[in-house]
Amino acid sequence: MAERLQKVMANAGIASRRASEKMILAGRVRVNGKVIKELGQKVDGNDVIEVDGHLIEREEKVYYLFYKPRGVISAAKDDKGRKVVTDYFTDHSERVYPIGRLDYDTSGLLLLTNDGELANRLMHPRYKVNKTYVAKVKGLVQNEALKQLRVGVRLKDGKKSARAKAKLLSLDKKNDTSIVSLTIHEGRNHQVKNMLQAVGHPVKKLKRETYGFLTLAGLTSGQYRELTREEVKALYELGNK
Ligand code: URA
Repeated sequence: MAERLQKVMANAGIASRRASEKMILAGRVRVNGKVIKELGQKVDGNDVIEVDGHLIEREEKVYYLFYKPRGVISAAKDDKGRKVVTDYFTDHSERVYPIGRLDYDTSGLLLLTNDGELANRLMHPRYKVNKTYVAKVKGLVQNEALKQLRVGVRLKDGKKSARAKAKLLSLDKKNDTSIVSLTIHEGRNHQVKNMLQAVGHPVKKLKRETYGFLTLAGLTSGQYRELTREEVKALYELGNK
């Protein structure tokens, strides 16, 4: 959406609209490299704006911790018209997108932001952010399966999963199911489902409970909260190692 240059400058925290107009009239502002000296210029998200030679940040950075429900796509849009995670954030002017993905039928902790730099860092495999999942699986999980999960299992693509933490939380003999917790730092497609499948326990239900040091504490399905400054800083540090 195109907006007046002085409005975009004000939103970016450069100065008030009135003061921004003065800066424009004084020839201090460039759009896509060209000095603009008249009011009335409109710009959109693709235009590059400089004030006194400095690029301006267009949007305030926002960071949300979302408890994704099952039955929601981890994307900004879906060609089949299904509900997407960003549908929960339409009240905000900033456009956010998820950091990584959870499957349609997986619930749990998902971060959303408009900070591309942080998103890129955290999604990079080099940073090995630990994520804990709790899975309800078919069958009664034995020690041997847990041991295999811990050292790594051969996945469908032929690659071995990295070392993981695996814990049995409970067994339900009557229904022939178990609840296990798995902490991994990899993030391949359907990784947890594939790991559990590989040890003979197909996943019936999956939830991500933690992402690094972050948990779902205080949230119910479909709710979100903003991250604190300290949390954002700590995430940057996770992505610094
Ligand atoms: N592993 C999976 O199999 N699914 C998810 O949604 C996340 C991790």
